[in-house]
Amino acid sequence: MRSPAELYDWELAHVAGRSDQDLARYSALAARTGGPVLELACGTGRLTAPLDAVGLDIDADMLTLARRRGVRRLVRADMRCFALAQRFPLVALPYNSLQLLVDEDDAVACLRCAGSHLAPGGVLGLEVTDFQKGAVRDRVGLELLARADGVSLHGALVNERSRRVSTYHRRFEEDGEARVDHVHLRCLDRSELEGLLERAGLQLAEVTEEGQRLFCVATVRAGGEGRHTASAPAASRRTLALAKRERARFA
Ligand SMILES: C[S@@+](CC[C@H](N)C(=O)[O-])C[C@H]1O[C@@H](n2cnc3c(N)ncnc32)[C@H](O)[C@@H]1O
Repeated sequence: MRSPAELYDWELAHVAGRSDQDLARYSALAARTGGPVLELACGTGRLTAPLDAVGLDIDADMLTLARRRGVRRLVRADMRCFALAQRFPLVALPYNSLQLLVDEDDAVACLRCAGSHLAPGGVLGLEVTDFQKGAVRDRVGLELLARADGVSLHGALVNERSRRVSTYHRRFEEDGEARVDHVHLRCLDRSELEGLLERAGLQLAEVTEEGQRLFCVATVRAGGEGRHTASAPAASRRTLALAKRERARFA
């Protein structure tokens, strides 16, 4: 059976329908800020390659596929706690990746770390989705989402409104094998995102709303509180412990 990283590209193509729709937004931001670009949670390099960005991801298999796609500079690190020598006019956090950090303190730690890697006047570009906005049902049972190239994917969805968490249950089948996993996503609307950004020393500068989705640009708040210091928030104690264990390195 193909690896989860290989199936990520398959799922983008056959279920999510996400190819390069968001590329123009990040290219325009990169042109405006002058680059270079750091992409957090870069995955298999869908955007990293065309942006010629530095890609950071926690998953070694994702990074291998990103390298195969032509990405030249890759870092294996946790986006909640990384430290690179370089600063960037644009840090990108595309396609709901922030929402994989269901724990609020983790999301703040990631945003704070992103802010600390901005060059003076730099911007953070990100996309978030409120999966519960306008949702009619809070439980959608297992159904076939796609079958192609010898792979089939069944998925189910559970919205926990009180926690603002949506869980996507997946069952992939290929070559007579099955793999089941669960993706937990923190739902974010504009005011929830603003709250996280504020805690991280950032502020919303631009927002484009498209249905459940928000495409946002954030900047460091006056006072430079986005600067990351090891002593800063008690909230990221766990994050700092992780940082000690894991040194960001160019893969
Ligand atoms: C939805 S994919 C996005 C990939 C890519 N940015 C895109 O737009 O196609 C999410 C990525 O986040 C990565 N990821 C999840 N948690 C992470 C963490 N704590 N630090 C760094 N990467 C993480 C996963 O390995 C995965 O590649």
